[in-house]
Amino acid sequence: MGLNFNIAIDGHSSCGKSTIAKSIAEQYGMRYIDTGAMYRAVTLFFMRNDVIINKVINNNDILFSLQNMSIDFKFNLETKKSEMFLNNENVEDFIRGIEVSENVSIVAQIKEVRDKLIGLQRDIGKEKNVVMDGRDIGTKVFPNAKLKLFITASAEIRAERRCKELIDKGDNVSFEDVLANINKRDKHDTNRVINPLLKADDAILIDNTELSIKDQNLLIHNLIKAKLSK
Ligand code: DC
Repeated sequence: MGLNFNIAIDGHSSCGKSTIAKSIAEQYGMRYIDTGAMYRAVTLFFMRNDVIINKVINNNDILFSLQNMSIDFKFNLETKKSEMFLNNENVEDFIRGIEVSENVSIVAQIKEVRDKLIGLQRDIGKEKNVVMDGRDIGTKVFPNAKLKLFITASAEIRAERRCKELIDKGDNVSFEDVLANINKRDKHDTNRVINPLLKADDAILIDNTELSIKDQNLLIHNLIKAKLSK
């Protein structure tokens, strides 16, 4: 695999994009970037610094906050996972909870936030071949990605999977709350004015509502093989 072989994975919340992306990265020696984690880290910073209070953004503080925030991924050699650092603090344990999830769509609609994160994402893509998951990777971040996938599944099955994940981690959540959060995020993601969630024309659609992980992996592996052989 030569340089500039980037894979863009977009799609709805909680449809397994990160599982797919991690497995591709491991198998093909690419760098995995979870762009949702970046939007979550900015949201956490905004919540901690009162840039967002009761879901209302203080527009005057946005630029100053973005200038005083550093966002990096660091690879944890022990867990073999890439972890999100906000101003040198490992924030992995704080960014996935329901509170950040409740606020992140609002933060992801802010143009200044998107401009900053897209710039960082493109810079990372210059260093190494990446497999990046998010909402606007195939349409905005890497419009020339070698392979673009658009992943989806029914909202109910996504809520079921996400609920199980959160409960396994010790979070006390109900299926109804998780489903409501997923529906709300879908609505925000697809209806926002700036960089909404859209399938790129040349992205391949995969609906995994009734697809096993094994069959999905096989399908994607064949797609990558076909691209590599060109
Ligand atoms: O993938 P995730 O659920 O962790 O993403 C969190 C939120 O960030 C999601 O509601 C949409 C937003 N997001 C985005 O707008 N653009 C991206 N490239 C990635 C995530």
